[in-house]
Amino acid sequence: MEKAAIGIFDSGVGGLTVWRELLLLLPSENTIYLSDAANAPYGEKSVEEIYQLSRKNTRWLLEKGCKLIVVACNTATTNAISRLRNEFNVPFIGIEPAIKPAALQSRSKRIGVLATRGTLASNLFSSTSASYTAGIEVIGQEGTGLVGLIEKGLQDSENAREHLAGLLSPMLDRGIDHLVLGCTHYPLLIPQLRELLPESVQIVDCGPAVARQTRAVLEAAALLNPSGETGTHQLYTNADPAVINRVLKEMGKPEKADAAEF
Ligand code: DGL
Repeated sequence: MEKAAIGIFDSGVGGLTVWRELLLLLPSENTIYLSDAANAPYGEKSVEEIYQLSRKNTRWLLEKGCKLIVVACNTATTNAISRLRNEFNVPFIGIEPAIKPAALQSRSKRIGVLATRGTLASNLFSSTSASYTAGIEVIGQEGTGLVGLIEKGLQDSENAREHLAGLLSPMLDRGIDHLVLGCTHYPLLIPQLRELLPESVQIVDCGPAVARQTRAVLEAAALLNPSGETGTHQLYTNADPAVINRVLKEMGKPEKADAAEF
């Protein structure tokens, strides 16, 4: 079982920002990545639809023999992870907006969270916001249209920059000093965000924390791959593999994705 792969899923290429952190921290682990791009974006769907899609992805990864599932999607984590944990007998690692570290470090006592509608509307997001943010104002902003732009590789266009600037301005007007990236697609926007945000605003990406949590859970369950060899990686999508392959290339990765039905 230690040599089994870590299964990772997202609605598209966003989860690759988590996948690359896993590879950095756990180089001996094998991984299987699933991009459910035929059903993207998840952020506009109902809680039940998000759960059913997450369940389908989990089943597929478990049929491939995965030992642990990383839900590399904030929308799926905040809307479905507790039901997945009840249904499947395998460890799950999720990702949700890193409100706690941002709230602890904020000087202006105002933090921005850029996330999908589904994440901002979820119960898990409301309860996390309430637990860690006494005296802190959390300004949520729906990243309307951003997942679609990133999937199409259009985030560097002039139109995309204007659109992004429009999304940021209500948060900047309120004086945020931290911007939490509450969707795994958004780290792919960091170059554009860095240009548009004042230097005083810190960008908070939760990918590295997910990799650390995955290592801790594998270690505690004695499931770390002991081989000492570099892991192998399979990537699948139910839409056009060219989309993932473009992002893999931009990340400097040699792997290629295959088309699959799931
Ligand atoms: N990467 C997903 C997330 O973290 C994108 C959600 C979507 O498909 O709308 O929320």
